[in-house]
Amino acid sequence: MTEALSPPEFYELVHRRRDVRGQFTGREMGEESLERLLGAAHAAPSVGLSQPWDFIVIRDGATRAAFKEHVASERETFMAELAGERKELFAGIKIEGIEEASLGLVVTYDSSRGAPHVLGRHAIAEAGLYSVCLAIENLWLAATAEGLGVGWVSFYREDFLRQLLGIPAEVRPVAWLCLGPVTHLEPVPDLEARRWAERRPLADVVRRERW
Ligand SMILES: Cc1cc2nc3c(=O)[nH]c(=O)nc-3n(C[C@H](O)[C@H](O)[C@H](O)COP(=O)(O)O)c2cc1C
Repeated sequence: MTEALSPPEFYELVHRRRDVRGQFTGREMGEESLERLLGAAHAAPSVGLSQPWDFIVIRDGATRAAFKEHVASERETFMAELAGERKELFAGIKIEGIEEASLGLVVTYDSSRGAPHVLGRHAIAEAGLYSVCLAIENLWLAATAEGLGVGWVSFYREDFLRQLLGIPAEVRPVAWLCLGPVTHLEPVPDLEARRWAERRPLADVVRRERW
């Protein structure tokens, strides 16, 4: 048997993790802390041990400003799909903290890593993408443990981000993460507090034996 960590603390951490948009302080983030977070991400499981991720650390103001502008235009695109009460609700929701965070971290997926015979991916191509998401979750939890915040931004077109950061055509940007010290983590998701959506009861999503 492996030695048990402290389960109560672990579960507390899992529930404390939050998507952050408005609580970044912008304070400098040390390289050592960043290294630990990236180490946690890189320790994630991956299909066939393909480790299909790369991490681009972005501190440059001009790059962040350009991305923020693009995200603002994608926000408008989404907003145009809404009507009535949903539109009003969305208008008050902050969807990114690109410039307020200490840095941006773009996580990418390279399907050629370990290819062509990635063990476990022959029938499910998306298994590579799942692996990248696990790396992101590892980093998200590690950041929470360090008292830092993470905000996932997905209001972008992949081609825009590829061009902005010089990402090769065959590599997919999976997330722009806003990262850095925060004043605090909110106890409930912002989307829940603003009545956009709510977390479903666990019993609604657990099925026994069959769908
Ligand atoms: C794949 C993915 C994409 C997301 N994209 C955005 C985004 O573009 N903007 C944003 O404000 N939050 C984004 N989020 C955060 C979710 O809104 C958030 O996780 C959810 O509301 C639950 O809140 P919590 O993470 O604080 O528990 C994203 C989360 C995931 C997993």
